Amino acid sequence: MQKSKILVTGGAGYIGSHTSLMLLEEGYEVVVLDNLINGSQEALRRVEHITGRPLTFIKGDIRDRACLDQLFSEHDIDAVIHFAGLKAVGESVGQPLAYYDTNLGGSLALCRAMQAAGVFRLVFSSSATVYGPDAPVPYHESMPRGGTSNPYGTSKSMVEKTLEDLSHSDERWSIVLLRYFNPIGAHPSGRLGEDPQGVPNNLLPYIAQVAVGRRPSLKVFGDDYATEDGTCVRDYLHVMDLAEGHVSALGRLSLPGTHVYNLGTGQGLSVLQMVEAFERISERPIPYQFAPRREGDLAAFWADPHKAQQELGWLARRGLDDMISDTWRWQRQNPHGYRTEINTTSHGAS
Ligand code: NAD
Ligand code: UD1
Repeated sequence: MQKSKILVTGGAGYIGSHTSLMLLEEGYEVVVLDNLINGSQEALRRVEHITGRPLTFIKGDIRDRACLDQLFSEHDIDAVIHFAGLKAVGESVGQPLAYYDTNLGGSLALCRAMQAAGVFRLVFSSSATVYGPDAPVPYHESMPRGGTSNPYGTSKSMVEKTLEDLSHSDERWSIVLLRYFNPIGAHPSGRLGEDPQGVPNNLLPYIAQVAVGRRPSLKVFGDDYATEDGTCVRDYLHVMDLAEGHVSALGRLSLPGTHVYNLGTGQGLSVLQMVEAFERISERPIPYQFAPRREGDLAAFWADPHKAQQELGWLARRGLDDMISDTWRWQRQNPHGYRTEINTTSHGAS
C-alpha cells in the first residue's frame, strides 16, 4: 500500500538522513528540503542506495517562502518533519541573529506556507535543553520550560511556544514536539552517520575522531561535578531509535493540539564511561586530559521516557554497545565523513 508523502526539512543532516531512510523503509514517500549548510547530498544518495528507493531532494531554504509555496504546490504533502536549523550552542552565543533567523524565522515561514497549502501536521525537533538548568532529573514533559542560557536553546523554546499558540488558534493543527536527549550512533551499515564540519562540539564525534587518529586527544570538560566520577552525565540514545521515534510520532498526528515527548533512554552515563566503552569496543586508546568545565554545561540530566512509551509505543531499544560499535564502524569506514572516497554506488538523489 502506498503511504503518504512526508516533507523532511533538514533531511540531508545527521538525524534527518537517518529518519528519511526509515521513512522510505516504512513505505512513505519522502521529499527533502535542505540548503546543505550542514548537510550532505552524498548522505541522501546513500539513503537511496541502502533502501533501494528514490527520494526527492530540493536544495532550498526554509526561510524562502516562494520555494516553500512551489514545493507544496508540486507535492501533495501529508505531514512535515522539521529538522532544519542551526545547532551549535557556542556559535549561537556569538551569532544570535543567525540562530533566531533560521530557527525561529525559518519555522514561522514553514508554518505560514503549510497553512496556505492546507497542511496542518507537523513534527518538530526540540531539545532537552528547554527544561533549563533548574529542572530536577529525570526530566518529565509535565515540567515547565525553564530559562535557557544561549540563543540556540532559546530559539527551541520560542518555537515550542509559537507552535502551542498556533495549535490553540486553529484546531486543524496537529503538532508533536520531540525533545531529544543526546543522539549518537550511526546506521549499522556504516554508510550513514554524523559528519560534523570542523572541530566537533559534541562528545561522541570527538572521541571517534581521536580513535581514528584525526585528533591526538580528548579534553574532558570538568572532573569536579557532583557525579559518581566527577564528569558530566547525559542520556545518550541511538540515532536509529530516534528515527523510529519520528515514525511513531507521525501516528500521533491524527489528534489536534500540541503533544510533547521526551526521546531518551532514561539512563545517564558519564563522560568517562563513554570513553571507557569506546576504548573497549574500538580496541583503540582514547588519550584524554581533564580541562576546565565548559560554560553552560549541566552536571547531569536524563529523560523520563515513559510518556513516549505509553502514548507513542516508542522505546529506545538499542544499547550502549550498539551505539558505540555503529559510531565506530561509520568513523572507521569514513574517516573524513562524506568526503571520504569509498564505494558510493548511487541511484542519484534527484
Ligand atoms: P544537522 O546540522 O546535521 O542537520 C540540520 C540540517 O538542516 C542540515 O542538513 C542543514 O544543512 C539544514 N539546514 C540548516 N539551515 C537550513 C535552512 N535555513 N534551510 C534548509 N535547511 C537548513 O543537525 P541534526 O543533528 O541532524 O539536528 C536536526 C535537528 O534536531 C536540529 O533542529 C537540531 O537543533 C535538533 N536537535 C539536535 C540534537 C543533536 O544532538 N544532534 C539534539 C537536540 C535537537
Ligand atoms: C549539547 C548542547 C545541547 C544540545 C546537545 C545536542 C551545549 C552546552 N549543550 O549538549 O544544547 O541539545 O548538545 O546537540 O553545548 N564533552 C567533553 N569534551 C568534549 C565534548 C563534550 O568533555 O570535547 C562533555 C561535555 O562537557 C558534556 C558531555 O561531554 O558533559 C556531552 O557533551 P555534548 O555531546 O556536547 O552534549 P551536551 O553538552 O549534553
